Amino acid sequence: MSVLNGKKILLGVSGGIAAYKTASLVRLFIKAGAHVQVIMTPASKDFVTPLTLSTLSKNPVHSSFFNQDDEDAVWNNHVDLALWADLMLIAPATSNTLSKMTTGNSDNLLIATYLSAKCPVYFAPAMDLDMYKHPSVLSSFNALKSFGNIMIPAESGELASGLSGEGRMAEPENIIAFLEADLESKLPLKGKKILITAGPTYEAIDPVRFIGNHSSGKMGFDLANEAANLGAQVILVAGPTHYKAKNSLVEVISVVSAQDMYDACHQYFNDVDVAIAAAAVADYRPKVVATQKIKKAADEFSIELEKTKDILASLGAIKKNQFLIGFALETENEIENAKLKIQKKNLDLIVLNSLQDEGAGFKKETNKVTFIDQDFKIEPMELKSKESVAVDILNKVVSHFTKS
Ligand code: CTP
Repeated sequence: MSVLNGKKILLGVSGGIAAYKTASLVRLFIKAGAHVQVIMTPASKDFVTPLTLSTLSKNPVHSSFFNQDDEDAVWNNHVDLALWADLMLIAPATSNTLSKMTTGNSDNLLIATYLSAKCPVYFAPAMDLDMYKHPSVLSSFNALKSFGNIMIPAESGELASGLSGEGRMAEPENIIAFLEADLESKLPLKGKKILITAGPTYEAIDPVRFIGNHSSGKMGFDLANEAANLGAQVILVAGPTHYKAKNSLVEVISVVSAQDMYDACHQYFNDVDVAIAAAAVADYRPKVVATQKIKKAADEFSIELEKTKDILASLGAIKKNQFLIGFALETENEIENAKLKIQKKNLDLIVLNSLQDEGAGFKKETNKVTFIDQDFKIEPMELKSKESVAVDILNKVVSHFTKS
């Protein structure tokens, strides 16, 4: 999945022949799953029509502060447009537009919006080879870079003037690749490895029966997807569940029993920076597993159980620098029991679920959790979707690394 998926992109088009390439650019953004709004300078409409770009972007195109043809002229709020965007791209960026961006000469909607933007701004220059090298254009590039804007270098080749050299706007595919690489390199968990456990475990009684629980695995899969969205490489050790990972950065290791999950976790733990135990691991398993299906006989039947290994506690016992997060599912004395688990399992953070909270627990789409850290700082959260709880948990991971 592209890092552009779900991103809100504001494309500013200025008046150069390369504007015709923005039709492909918008298509590629939409294909990557981005939401696109386009602002055109008046001059750019000579090179590509607003209808083309509005059709491809599936949004109206903005080009003036208000629509002159409209009787009840509606103000195009440049501040709202700028605040909407996760990133802004000016492509093609002509020398005229670049120079206005440096001086704040906001005589059109594009420049006014640029000046209001708080998101990262990229510009893809397009001009003739001598213009591209002119000191005044170079000084615009330098000024914009000093403002924190990012330049997507022009490419070499045949130019509209008939000359050949550097100055062609980067090809749409290369602009997309540049943006993806730049955004990925800035993801907060880039370079981090995270081990996550998810789902139930099944403990065999005989070849056809098992002891299990109602965990769906959703919380663990949401955590894995969110961690991958933040750039982490994820090893997801999952018990039996129908969920699938949505991101190629997630490697799923499918297991069945608590012992399988224990073995898989210990295989990877030394190599990871973070481990999150979201699985509902069986605490007990049948002491003896029958090799043949157990036949119905006496009126009463009992199974002797033995304890499974506590995976999380075993990781806590050997952890070095890993940031270790556990869950606690409690029905009484929640806070006190959760604090005991932090100590007993040597955790950095515990995510407490109370079954007394409506909307929390197994087979639900929502969860209501309380965070408790190593210093016993307690932070109750609102009832939220499991995806949002995953975002909150990963925010804790990100702030751990930004602090340390
Ligand atoms: N856990 C684990 N291995 C086990 C049991 C639990 O890794 N054999 C992990 C769970 O993934 C969870 C945490 O330990 O992150 C707490 O699980 P919970 O069921 O709340 O507590 P238990 O430690 O099993 O204690 P109890 O059932 O007595 O409350």
